[in-house]
Amino acid sequence: MKASVYYENGGPEVFRYEDVPDPACPPDGIVIDVEVISVEGGDMINRSRVPLLSRPHIVGYQCAGTVREVGPQVKNFRVGDRVVSVVPNGAYAERVAASAARTWAVPAGADLVPIASVPVAFGTAHVALFALGNLAKGEKVLVHAGAGGVGLAAIQLAKEAGAEVLTTASSDDKLARLREFGAAHGINYKTSSLQDAVAKAVGPRGVNLVLDSVGGKNLQDSVGCLAYRGRIVSLGRAGRDPTLFDPYPLWAKNGSLIGLYLLSSLDHEHAQTHRAIAECIERVARGELRVVIDKQFALADAAKAHTYVEQRQAFGRVVLHTRG
Ligand SMILES: NC(=O)c1ccc[n+]([C@@H]2O[C@H](COP(=O)([O-])OP(=O)(O)OC[C@H]3O[C@@H](n4cnc5c(N)ncnc54)[C@H](OP(=O)(O)O)[C@@H]3O)[C@@H](O)[C@H]2O)c1
Repeated sequence: MKASVYYENGGPEVFRYEDVPDPACPPDGIVIDVEVISVEGGDMINRSRVPLLSRPHIVGYQCAGTVREVGPQVKNFRVGDRVVSVVPNGAYAERVAASAARTWAVPAGADLVPIASVPVAFGTAHVALFALGNLAKGEKVLVHAGAGGVGLAAIQLAKEAGAEVLTTASSDDKLARLREFGAAHGINYKTSSLQDAVAKAVGPRGVNLVLDSVGGKNLQDSVGCLAYRGRIVSLGRAGRDPTLFDPYPLWAKNGSLIGLYLLSSLDHEHAQTHRAIAECIERVARGELRVVIDKQFALADAAKAHTYVEQRQAFGRVVLHTRG
């Protein structure tokens, strides 16, 4: 099979489009003929800096396609089913081996392209807001990097839960578009002080919950925007800023910093996490929640897709197609 692989960390130019061996089907899993691959924020971070597990390495957390092979322990999927899966790596390929426990059926008639981008973004947003963030109706929530995959999902879910949503982005154009997804206040974090902008939007008491996918100084600055007993869910380091977090400023607020890793939620709180993602898939298929697909590339052009995302032009998701 063909895959977009790399032999070393680096910029998008490290990708090679090559023949690699087909994956073996795990006893508790499936092999998927992949059609659509969702380019996740973590893919860029893996490519640029995470030590390779194999050489060549196939990156990629999420893909959708048709079941080609089923392991002997799997009872809920059959050859020919359309599915979407989350994998720890290996998604940038024509075939992927996936765990059945991290796989969801694609609703009949649904377009595979948006569905391919649901589990990680909506699952992460859902766990951050509800299972970990304990978001209550009427609370104020700050969603960083609102125009990213997780951000767009979080804005929609928070808004429909009755929260007042603030969001950040690197351009006023992105912020203007985020209003139609439910953001009441937009903050350009390239041109304004976060704490001042939050105080201006909702008053000096600040927000009850922050979802931070940017990390570094942005995570630290978020403490200054927090209300008494506020919570910060730290889930990403999209900003590539190595600044270490100092918990001391949280003390005066009796505030909490909570870490999130979606694959841990799927392992340790499997039933509720899997169900929440299944509901999001159904709701995207019905048009009740929206996935924005910004651009589509061939799998062979993974380097172009990563370059585009890293230029910070994307609004929503970029996807790759195995069939060009
Ligand atoms: N913990 C978990 O389980 C989990 C799950 C999903 C994702 N994540 C992490 O969460 C982060 C966001 O994921 P995602 O899939 O939403 O990513 P994405 O769709 O690529 O969006 C990332 C956003 O980060 C912002 N950003 C800020 N600084 C950036 C920089 N230096 N380079 C590129 N983008 C930058 C960009 O918005 P602006 O240009 O508007 O700033 C962009 O929209 C990633 O770090 C990812 O690894 C973690």
